[in-house]
Amino acid sequence: MSDDPRDDRRRRLQTYATDAITVTFDPTRCIHAAECIRTAPAVFDSRRKRWIKPELGDPELVATAVRRCPTGALAYSLPAGAAEAPDETTSIHAWRNGPLYVRGDVTIATEDGRVIARGYRMALCRCGATKNAPFCDGSHREVGFRDA
Ligand code: FES
Repeated sequence: MSDDPRDDRRRRLQTYATDAITVTFDPTRCIHAAECIRTAPAVFDSRRKRWIKPELGDPELVATAVRRCPTGALAYSLPAGAAEAPDETTSIHAWRNGPLYVRGDVTIATEDGRVIARGYRMALCRCGATKNAPFCDGSHREVGFRDA
């Protein structure tokens, strides 16, 4: 088996497809930022059992909602293999009392070069309490993490 972390991630992905767009969701990366729900509430509705219904929105709106997901839990691809492109510049934003949001063409690796994760959007733990390092898993709320 490949040691590419993307292979491991694929096993957990949920897939929601139409002819116009395919949305994937990785529940291990979601921290309920809810940007998707705010952007396209008809498509992303956590009260439904099948909570993502891309057929209920314009594909461009669905793609916009996915790109606003700060953790990378959501991703999309379009027909003919077209997929999301990373932001042109890499940015890191410290979310108040929460994770570091990283955007860009990002690779996370260990000191000896072993790749842990690749992606375009990530939420990295900065409270030290996550059980899904290096990613934020929402534990900062339970431990009452506060910015200095
Ligand atoms: S910042 Fe969210 S779990 Fe640490």
